[in-house]
Amino acid sequence: EVTLRTLAAARNLRVGAAVNDRGLDSDNGYRDKLRYEFNSVTPETAMKWVNLEPEPGVYTWGKADAVVSFAQQNNQMVRGHTLVWHSALPTWVSDGSLSDQELRAALQRHVETTVKRYAGRVAVWDVVNEVLAEDGTLKQTIWLKRLGPGYIADAFRWARAADPSAKLYINDYNAEWSNPKRTALYNLVRDLRAQGVPIDGVGFQTHSLIKDPTPETIPPTQLRSTLELFAGLGVDVAVTELDVRLKLPVDERKLAAQAEIYRRVTAACVAVARCVSLTVWSLTDRYSWVPAVVPGWGAAHPLDAALARKPAYDQMQAVL
Ligand code: XIL
Repeated sequence: EVTLRTLAAARNLRVGAAVNDRGLDSDNGYRDKLRYEFNSVTPETAMKWVNLEPEPGVYTWGKADAVVSFAQQNNQMVRGHTLVWHSALPTWVSDGSLSDQELRAALQRHVETTVKRYAGRVAVWDVVNEVLAEDGTLKQTIWLKRLGPGYIADAFRWARAADPSAKLYINDYNAEWSNPKRTALYNLVRDLRAQGVPIDGVGFQTHSLIKDPTPETIPPTQLRSTLELFAGLGVDVAVTELDVRLKLPVDERKLAAQAEIYRRVTAACVAVARCVSLTVWSLTDRYSWVPAVVPGWGAAHPLDAALARKPAYDQMQAVL
């Protein structure tokens, strides 16, 4: 059967999906879609620090292990997500009780322990996630405030030492078109590489690039030229968290416009030689982060809540 997976494989491309823990645990229909449609998976939440080490030194690997073993059984690549983020931190990290020195040591241990555990099984890591603000300055996170800007280079070096074969990415959103954040991301990657920091790739989340589109209101995206721009730095690029949220209820016109955006994003990645993977941030409306974050919005994904193909799926397939 022709699936996204078989088509992507023929192009030497990875097509991936964020993995929902509940679906993986107990939903056979979901598991089948995950296995047949994708050759890459990203744990949606299972590898975030709060889920791996809820108390200092108390590791809870179960959900992350489940994603990795599913991927191994099904010959899929794993994108590890994410080592350094300001969100989804355990309370003992975020509550301010650690000194700067202790905090740095905790972060180093987290990066090293996690990357070593999955060495050889997680091929790609989002080492740092969302480190830039919209105005192009470094985001004022616990990491910047307490450790200073060097935390970014440190995290890449720790990760490289822990698994020299893993590809190491910086990942962010709203850098898909020309704006101060994209410029800052470009300069950051360029400067880090000039300093010898081991950074192999740039991930573009591509969340809701265009919100609630109609067929008449889809502007041209700059995604392809953005991917080419960064590829020019000598790094791989990837679409890491694609979704297109719609205002509910949906209708045929909205679904058609959504499909057109999925088509363009897929075409942009396919057109750029260094675009090595394209991941959707949930494969199905059955499990979606969107309504939880933005009430009244949803239906953002390629399969509907019954796991049936939407126009968005058909367009991805048509391009692949
Ligand atoms: C989101 C998950 O989808 C939600 O289930 C969770 O509650 C919060 O995080 N950018 C990222 C992802 O890098 O990790 C986020 O995932 C979505 C935004």
